[in-house]
Amino acid sequence: MTNLASSLIEGFKGRRSIYALTNESTISDARIEELLSEVAINTPSAFNSQTARIVVLLKEDHEKLWDMARDIAKATVPAEIFEKLYAPRTAMFRAAYGTVLFYEDPAPLQPLKEKWPMLENQFPEWSNHSSGMHQYAAWTLLEAEGLGCSLQHYSPLIDAGVSEKWNVPTEWSLKAQLVFGKPIGPPKEKTAEPLSTRLFVHGK
Ligand SMILES: Cc1cc2nc3c(=O)[nH]c(=O)nc-3n(C[C@H](O)[C@H](O)[C@H](O)COP(=O)(O)O)c2cc1C
Repeated sequence: MTNLASSLIEGFKGRRSIYALTNESTISDARIEELLSEVAINTPSAFNSQTARIVVLLKEDHEKLWDMARDIAKATVPAEIFEKLYAPRTAMFRAAYGTVLFYEDPAPLQPLKEKWPMLENQFPEWSNHSSGMHQYAAWTLLEAEGLGCSLQHYSPLIDAGVSEKWNVPTEWSLKAQLVFGKPIGPPKEKTAEPLSTRLFVHGK
């Protein structure tokens, strides 16, 4: 195996969901921006449509995001679910250093849909695939730099509030939020289903 392949596998293994985070970072803000630039430049998209849009909220902006999520949840979900689920989780995310918001912009897909009408219904799904690739690349890279991350889904709850506060075009679709900060502890044990039920190779 090449050194590059070994390093990539180390990165894959190191990417885990880590929830207990502090409001510190293991790397500079400039480095965070550099890593996310590499993600934006190098992650593929269908027909090279480059639909991904990445918004990063750090420190106070990050805290405002999770305050907003808490307040909207409090006003909209049943009180029991808010107390049990949303209150502790939004507090836990707020305690971290930053959040990466992964959006997809549908605008670049329009000319492609016109050019390839038989694929029209496929483009939204491929846009989701590409977003997942961006999320995975960012998650793996940030953790390779010593940060802990967890992937969250607070859309559509927070969509309108975030668009207004951080001037995000309302046409963009919010797919996921990657919360990150300095890890306090290791990730939880994880079970693995047998590979024999998950990987099938023919023609060896
Ligand atoms: C598409 C996708 C959606 C997920 N959504 C959430 C989520 O909303 N909240 C959360 O805490 N974790 C979420 N996760 C994290 C998974 O629960 C986690 O990746 C899985 O349990 C494996 O653990 P690991 O990340 O430590 O390898 C999501 C992961 C994926 C790939």
